[in-house]
Amino acid sequence: MRPHIKVNDMGHLTIGGVDAVKLADELDTPLYVVDENRIRERYREFYSAFSSLYPKVEIKYAYKANTSLAVLHILRQEGAGADILSEGELYIARKKIGLEAENIIFTGNNKTDRELELALEEDVIINIDAVHELERLIGICEEKGKEAKISFRVNPSVSPMTHPHLATGLRKSKFGIHEEDVIKVYRRAKDSDYLRILGIHMHIGSQITSTQPYEEATSKLFDIVGKLKRVLEIDLEFVDLGGGLGIRYERDSPYITPTDLANALIPIIKRKIKEHSIEEPTLYLEPGRYIVGDSSILLCRVSTVKQTPYKKFIGVDAGFHILLRPVLYGAYHEAVIANKMNQEPVERVDIAGNVCESGDILGRDRRLPNVEAGDVVAFLDVGAYCIIMASQYNSRPRPAEVLVRDGKYELIRERESVEDLLVKQRVPRRLLE
Ligand SMILES: Cc1ncc(COP(=O)(O)O)c(C=O)c1O
Repeated sequence: MRPHIKVNDMGHLTIGGVDAVKLADELDTPLYVVDENRIRERYREFYSAFSSLYPKVEIKYAYKANTSLAVLHILRQEGAGADILSEGELYIARKKIGLEAENIIFTGNNKTDRELELALEEDVIINIDAVHELERLIGICEEKGKEAKISFRVNPSVSPMTHPHLATGLRKSKFGIHEEDVIKVYRRAKDSDYLRILGIHMHIGSQITSTQPYEEATSKLFDIVGKLKRVLEIDLEFVDLGGGLGIRYERDSPYITPTDLANALIPIIKRKIKEHSIEEPTLYLEPGRYIVGDSSILLCRVSTVKQTPYKKFIGVDAGFHILLRPVLYGAYHEAVIANKMNQEPVERVDIAGNVCESGDILGRDRRLPNVEAGDVVAFLDVGAYCIIMASQYNSRPRPAEVLVRDGKYELIRERESVEDLLVKQRVPRRLLE
């Protein structure tokens, strides 16, 4: 199946050497389960693919994929910096994880003045996304009398050939500064006494399964780096290629490995460095999904089996409030019956969530063994963009999360209670009379 996901003698699914059915019994469902060793393995694989071919490589893990504190500490131990996008992520990276400011790049789009001020105060690299943002940052720096370390996010206008919601570097997408404006913004930044230009950035999209869009965009980006040197005499310390490497949600879907990507990109980068006679910049990479995506499973329990005249539904105690991707992007997460791993599939069913919306189907037309109430369904590959998107919709507390490693488990997130649903609410006294 996956190297960290196996089947034991009882025909139960195991992850990180821990029986998933036992976890569901002892910790209740729905439950996110994260495999520590798998995260470490994927990080090392990604880092070494690039660092074995290029001397200066830094990984800025994309916090948006998963900010569970235990996960972030694992990645800090591995040496990861952070790509962040909000005040919350800044707080987590600096105050909770304790990353050095120079290991953090603040990329978010539509940053507020408050976010710019905090990023300046914390001295992290501010990755500017718009001309308007540049002007506001200069104003803030002048007011505070403080220099900001900056880069610009460039929109290279390429199609990453992924889901439209995951494409961020298209000509018409909302992200980044277009090639036509790049010289103008770098010139403006160079002329300011308050900005220290460090780099350039792109991020073309997510769940990308071909090297081709990366090759095109990287080539364009390094041509811009060359132009900045030629026209403005700017030497950049780093070039950030963003994240986006896809994972194999479906066993027969196309995929590329970090090694494929590094093998495709590093020769282009080396050629462009020579062609434009530029200093060798540090290469930043911002993987999120690839590092954490397949590290986790979501366990939920079958509550209801419903046979309609048209279809059979397996109803579970989870819904799109805690696993949004199927509904948001039509994403596929493989589902297995954790307590019946050795049983053959006998039927096709839809796995229905418990949110009161007809769109809340977590898996369509899945071939499964005979499923009964009480069985444990495991959704695979839920480490990225899943628990981080969990909400309390339908007044359902968010699930617990547990870390597994070498046959042992530790709770890393308590299950919310119904009281937790209400903690920040106030009712005016007059409404209580
Ligand atoms: C700026 C930026 N960097 C990195 C990432 C990580 O992408 P992925 O999780 O696909 O690697 C994202 C996510 O879309 C992003 O917006």
